[in-house]
Amino acid sequence: MRITVIGCGYLGATHAAAMAEFGHEVLAMEIDRAKREALAQGRVPMHEPNLADLLARNVESGQLRFTDSYAEVAAFGDLHFVCVGTPQQPESLAADVSQIEAAITGLAPHLARPALVVGKSTVPVGTAERMAGRLTALAPAGGEAMLAWNPEFLREGYAVQDTLHPDRIVVGIQDSRAEKLLRDFYQPMIDQGSPIVVTDYATAELVKVAANAFLATKISFINAMAEVCEATGADVVDLADSIGYDERIGRQFLNAGIGFGGGCLPKDIRAFVHRAGELGVEDAMTFLRHIDDINRRQRERVVHIAKAMVGGDLAGARIGVWGAAFKPDSDDVRDSPALWISGQLHLKGADVRVYDPQANATAGHAFPTLTYADSAVEACRGADLVLHLTEWPEFRELTPTDLEGVVRRQQLFDGRNVLDVDAWRSAGWTVRALGRR
Ligand code: UGA
Repeated sequence: MRITVIGCGYLGATHAAAMAEFGHEVLAMEIDRAKREALAQGRVPMHEPNLADLLARNVESGQLRFTDSYAEVAAFGDLHFVCVGTPQQPESLAADVSQIEAAITGLAPHLARPALVVGKSTVPVGTAERMAGRLTALAPAGGEAMLAWNPEFLREGYAVQDTLHPDRIVVGIQDSRAEKLLRDFYQPMIDQGSPIVVTDYATAELVKVAANAFLATKISFINAMAEVCEATGADVVDLADSIGYDERIGRQFLNAGIGFGGGCLPKDIRAFVHRAGELGVEDAMTFLRHIDDINRRQRERVVHIAKAMVGGDLAGARIGVWGAAFKPDSDDVRDSPALWISGQLHLKGADVRVYDPQANATAGHAFPTLTYADSAVEACRGADLVLHLTEWPEFRELTPTDLEGVVRRQQLFDGRNVLDVDAWRSAGWTVRALGRR
């Protein structure tokens, strides 16, 4: 098919390249000139494993092209995927859907023949219905310009894999013609075994936020248990392993630590609480405020622990930090707990030196006054304390020998509960972690 993709962030760039890989002809629209030009040359402007190859291959073959013109998008094909961002509003918990509105308003006047616009962005429930009305009103094709909502569940770090092999395909529709088109479009994935759920707009929109709310709840649950473990001398990793063996619970997303961040989980649960309030069902969603509070408390607890470990005064203490990205295999520092903690320690007077295998540049852009080191070992030179905050595999490989003669005091805090604590302790290090003995 000839399809178009509007918005080329993580979601759009990956969707465009992956759909080209499936053999579709893809025209992708990006209004940011620098990003568009990079993509058109086959360069990915963020760190996402396997995306660079996928993109370069399909740009080279001509299967994937880029534009900044809605007229060209409308002329190119009749299936248009909207993949723009829906960040948190600056002074509210609500999601900012202005990019979605702009995409529909920009595209609709060019839709003169039957077309299907497919929203993939995460939106407050009710947005699809509103956008469907706007589409019909503005498109010369009128009711022949249809809308579907088809949320995306990709994880950063696994974006290509999740897009090529989705664990489910959810489509919210109002018209059975839209279902037929999307079934045909996704047939290769359905044939691979991806289940498809066809439902209404509201359910499709809610599936996405409900999934992220559930994942956030799992993480905050185990982090709350970590606090109880600390108060009782219990061990949260043994606890998570043990409850995780119960298939009804499952071990995934039960890794206690400094909490969740990124461009999705935090803003999605806040937007959900806000929307629930507008719908008059805020009481049902109040627990998500607690989930957010527990998550934020983890970060604050780390600042307190670090302060105590350096002797009660952060001013003048030197702290080496491993990790700045919100999770490994990403250079994304949006709402990153690692960067938040580093920033707080710096603002309280510590000399903080951060190293991240991929996120030094993005972190430096977001927080230019921190010092960034070229290696994990360099970040620790002269340190009174080392903080492990993003669980990149290379940090797990480091041994006490690597830091011999490098640090001032042998003190380590494992914020992700993955380091070999016994090995570090045997080498004479003081090690602390959240919820661990
Ligand atoms: C999340 C969801 O996992 C995706 O399914 C969803 O499609 C995506 O948001 C989205 O809304 O687009 P992502 O933001 O890439 O994906 O990150 P996650 O893998 O969910 O991790 C989120 C945060 O939770 C990270 O900071 C991670 O370190 C933290 N986390 C994760 C924990 O603290 N403990 C865990 O056990 C798991």
